[in-house]
Amino acid sequence: MKNTQYSQNKPDLTAEQQNQITAAAQILRKGGTVAFPTETVYGLGADVTNPHAINKIYQIKQRPTDHPLIVHISDISHLHYWAQAIPDSAWQLANHFWPGPLTLILQRSSRIPDSVTGGQDTVGLRIPAHPVALTLLDSLGPEKALVAPSANRFGRISPTTAAHVREELGAAADMILDGGACEVGLESTIISFHDQLPKLLRPGGIAVSALESVLDRPIMLAHNTSQTIRTSGSLPAHYAPATPLKIYSTKYLWDRTLALAAQGSRVLVMTWSDISQSQPSDQSIQHFSMPADPITYGQQLYAKLRQFDQAAFDYMIIEAPPDHPSWLAIRDRLQRASYNPFDNKQN
Ligand code: TXA
Ligand code: MG
Repeated sequence: MKNTQYSQNKPDLTAEQQNQITAAAQILRKGGTVAFPTETVYGLGADVTNPHAINKIYQIKQRPTDHPLIVHISDISHLHYWAQAIPDSAWQLANHFWPGPLTLILQRSSRIPDSVTGGQDTVGLRIPAHPVALTLLDSLGPEKALVAPSANRFGRISPTTAAHVREELGAAADMILDGGACEVGLESTIISFHDQLPKLLRPGGIAVSALESVLDRPIMLAHNTSQTIRTSGSLPAHYAPATPLKIYSTKYLWDRTLALAAQGSRVLVMTWSDISQSQPSDQSIQHFSMPADPITYGQQLYAKLRQFDQAAFDYMIIEAPPDHPSWLAIRDRLQRASYNPFDNKQN
């Protein structure tokens, strides 16, 4: 069965959007950079075959050049052009989940420059499920593709609207295409086939269980995607707001929050469970209820972190999400965003 989850019921593009895409394609052909919407987050795009344009991406994002970029294509028939020695199981996943929030790490073909992969012999590829992204890629033609990291400065929260991209990058990108709010709101799931066997490198928009049921075999977790709670300090700061973010289990949430408020801190508390009903009344605590299901929680997470980050709180307190595989990507992003990830002593 083919994946249709993200590609159905899309409105046709307006004439204005078509014109903007034509202008964007021209900028990209000349070696410029264009931010564009995907179903996961907004990407900052450049022509994969133009090392000068790729350098601009690293400079704009202030990203170290050994962090490889994902290559976006518009049709599965182009996969052979950019990758080689593609295992059957990778084809199975691509056929089922593309277009969609899945990135496959495969052996690169000679057409992929070193600057895309940080010199590695593998390349990350995906077909995004967004009409603006697909039309843009199509208009560049089959022998072009777009590198597109998330359109934020390195280490910051990924943008899920065109306004977020403007906040992040200002005028640094040559153009920003507006395709509305991203449907998934979290980055793609990354599966590596580097050692032939599928391995999860980043949990994301597609649940591991969905991938496993298509492959009919388990997917290994890379060591840095463990579902177990990790100790603070061992995590790279990433997806991070400027406001210190702490994660507390439901049981200790209000106690910890009250302790911070008692020290004179202004605290924002984000919950998902019905614990909100027992909220203590304290002027310095503001509460926000998130959805209790991981799909809508994931859609809103980055936009809410960004919004509350601008509201001058001393702390953001997040109720630890359920320890269930369907919340894996959210737990991963919150851990990386947190000042003191999953406070072990309190859990
Ligand atoms: O949903 C997404 O994947 C978004 C949208 C714009 O497509 N893109 C995105 O790109 O999240 P970025 O650059 O922010 O994250 C890409 C991740 C990085 O952690 C990078 O290290 C990893 O993918 N990656 C890319 N190529 C790789 C490779 N050849 N081997 C291992 N990891 C790779
Ligand atoms: Mg990113």
